[in-house]
Amino acid sequence: MKDRVVLITGAKGDLGSFVTQRFLATGATVVGTSRSISNQDSPEPNFAPLPVDFTKAPAVRMVALESKAAGLTANLILPGTMDTPANRKAMPAADPSKWVQPGAVADLALLFAEERDEQVTGTVIPIDGTNV
Ligand SMILES: NC(=O)c1ccc[n+]([C@@H]2O[C@H](COP(=O)([O-])OP(=O)(O)OC[C@H]3O[C@@H](n4cnc5c(N)ncnc54)[C@H](OP(=O)(O)O)[C@@H]3O)[C@@H](O)[C@H]2O)c1
Repeated sequence: MKDRVVLITGAKGDLGSFVTQRFLATGATVVGTSRSISNQDSPEPNFAPLPVDFTKAPAVRMVALESKAAGLTANLILPGTMDTPANRKAMPAADPSKWVQPGAVADLALLFAEERDEQVTGTVIPIDGTNV
């Protein structure tokens, strides 16, 4: 994916940093957002930090429509409870095997980035693991 530029929101968080590392490993350039993000969060040369507060940004459909002319797509992934260290700590009695794996979310994000999906934009995709 060396010729792709990927925008990852929440790139400093538990999920976002995981997905960021997966895309950086493919050679893609990653623009990563969070309110407080810098080069120190991902020192790789193909990472560009973009400090932004999305409470002030439009919804995904609006982003998709606005960016269509530039050949960009915008899709939203809505995971159920994910198997993250924070959730395991917060819910020690729960069965994490039913939770959504961050890797499955990263795979879905990579799928959206494939060339054949360039007409899929403005969508909202829930991913619920086996806990449905
Ligand atoms: N963990 C789960 O089981 C789970 C399941 C379903 C959905 N989700 C959702 O998935 C997202 C990521 O989860 P996570 O576990 O990775 O959360 P997290 O570790 O708390 O990360 C949240 C990320 O979003 C950034 N952020 C927070 N508010 C922002 C704002 N107003 N504008 C821009 N960036 C903002 C944070 O950085 P800054 O503080 O620097 O801005 C951070 O990078 C969250 O929205 C969460 O609610 C999580």
